[in-house]
Amino acid sequence: MSDVERNNPILEGRHLKKTYQLGHAKRNNPILEGRHLKKTYQLGHANVPVLLDASLEVQQGEWVTILGSSGSGKSTVLHLLGGLDRPDENGGEVLFHGESVWGRSNKNINRYRNTEIGFVFQFYHLLPELTILENTTLPSMVGNSTMSTSAARERATTLLEQFGLGHRLLHRPRELSGGERQRAAIARALINEPSILLADEPTGNLDEDTGNEILDVLRQLHQDGLTVVLVTHNMDIASRGDCIVHLRNGVIEHPATVA
Ligand SMILES: Nc1ncnc2c1ncn2[C@@H]1O[C@H](COP(=O)(O)OP(=O)(O)OP(=O)(O)O)[C@@H](O)[C@H]1O
Ligand SMILES: [Mg+2]
Repeated sequence: MSDVERNNPILEGRHLKKTYQLGHAKRNNPILEGRHLKKTYQLGHANVPVLLDASLEVQQGEWVTILGSSGSGKSTVLHLLGGLDRPDENGGEVLFHGESVWGRSNKNINRYRNTEIGFVFQFYHLLPELTILENTTLPSMVGNSTMSTSAARERATTLLEQFGLGHRLLHRPRELSGGERQRAAIARALINEPSILLADEPTGNLDEDTGNEILDVLRQLHQDGLTVVLVTHNMDIASRGDCIVHLRNGVIEHPATVA
């Protein structure tokens, strides 16, 4: 094709955006829901009730922040929502697209945890003996992922490049800064193209500027359509989301009493 033709398209769509409003239908079909969740830990002979009746709805494409003080049960909520830990017996339900997660077979719970949910943790949880590229591809190799090794490597490389780590692929986590480790952990969380990202104090171990960089990465992913649930004790961080709820005394209050 000549240069003249390339510079004079007969038809061009440029940066097109289109949003459909689903109104009430959208609000009534949460992608993820915690319904009357209860969780009690056993410490020796003592019971430690953490969640008494915690309910939460997350709409597709929404960013929900759960704000709560240390020890209020924020990580516990995320673990229940993400299929990492079970609610108490008769301790409520987690629903994904309206279907009970904990009512599934173990195989299906694994699949949910591994393919629908991406986790980001405060302390990254990267495996020290693996390279950044290997850490990122790891979730594609466990469970029921159908991604081939080469496709996983390609996707991991693209994600890591997107997050500015293209020059760090073969490095070990200890050779990276905290912010770089967290960006690698976000890439790992996205490898299986999850529907929802659950972020547990993702900036809690970082200085303010680096934390803001990580929040910018999450904001961009959210703008691109990813549903995000983030927990924090920090009001400034909480204010970034679409919706803030407050976890207090084992209950999620709606809306948060943000003083
Ligand atoms: N496996 C466990 N066994 C016993 N108690 C636990 C266990 N996990 C958490 N707890 C207790 O449950 C409570 C809530 O813990 P959780 O980690 O959910 O709080 P959090 O809000 O995430 O706190 P932080 O902000 O410090 O991370 C705490 O009192 C904690 O000690
Ligand atoms: Mg926690």
